[in-house]
Amino acid sequence: MIRPMRPVVIAANWKMNTTPADAGDLATTIARRTAVPGVERVICPPFVCLAAVRDALAANDASVSVGAQDVHHELAGAYTGDTSATMLTGLATWVIVGHSERRRDHDETDERIGRKLARAVDAGIRPILCVGEQLDDRDLGQAVEVVDSQLAGALFERDRDALSRAGLVIAYEPVWAIGTGRNALGSDAAAMAEAIRATLSRLGWGPVAADVPVLYGGSVTAANIGDFLAEPSIDGALVGGASLKPDEMAGIVGRAGVTAAARLAATT
Ligand code: 13P
Repeated sequence: MIRPMRPVVIAANWKMNTTPADAGDLATTIARRTAVPGVERVICPPFVCLAAVRDALAANDASVSVGAQDVHHELAGAYTGDTSATMLTGLATWVIVGHSERRRDHDETDERIGRKLARAVDAGIRPILCVGEQLDDRDLGQAVEVVDSQLAGALFERDRDALSRAGLVIAYEPVWAIGTGRNALGSDAAAMAEAIRATLSRLGWGPVAADVPVLYGGSVTAANIGDFLAEPSIDGALVGGASLKPDEMAGIVGRAGVTAAARLAATT
């Protein structure tokens, strides 16, 4: 059976940057500078900027999706300052789950991240699950084991079919590469993408594992995106710092368009 081609995805994680006053303009500028066929574009602003970005994109380029940067693991209740999946309905169609900055600053566990995944899927929101090892893990040769255990912990007892139907995306973000200017090698990221799909197979995903998009994240720029997209197992990027810069995004998405066109040509 010929399996469907995996999409090419470039997701912008703005982290704790922009304000409701300026986020819409930045999203519009990025949308205009990145109008490349075949690339799925997602912008993930802070919660308070979601409505501004949604409105700006609806008015200027509705093909760019809006994503949130987190979602709570419960649907409602006494959780001051948190945001549930139902609250995101109408604001975001994607959500980042398990980012290493949230694991670090909010003590997020794999089990809780798994519950967030379930909440997102139940609300019809497409999740990007982030995994990645610390530098010590890599130096000790344990990067694959760490990522394997993060996946197993988050996906344990989760509805595989629902996640697959929701279009689960995995972002491999080695913690030592985030915001450091020290990106992973394309070959290392590709090896991890293969390991991630092998883990999914082992967890019972079977052949569907081959359809799960795997993104790379960590100091991605217009200058280095080609190293990752040259790897057939890598399907795009989750971009932090460079995603706030329209010139960088134009270069990154432009390069992603080359990969998208090549994949399309290979299937026709
Ligand atoms: P940087 O691109 O700034 O390294 O951030 C990566 C990241 O954490 C995206 O989620």
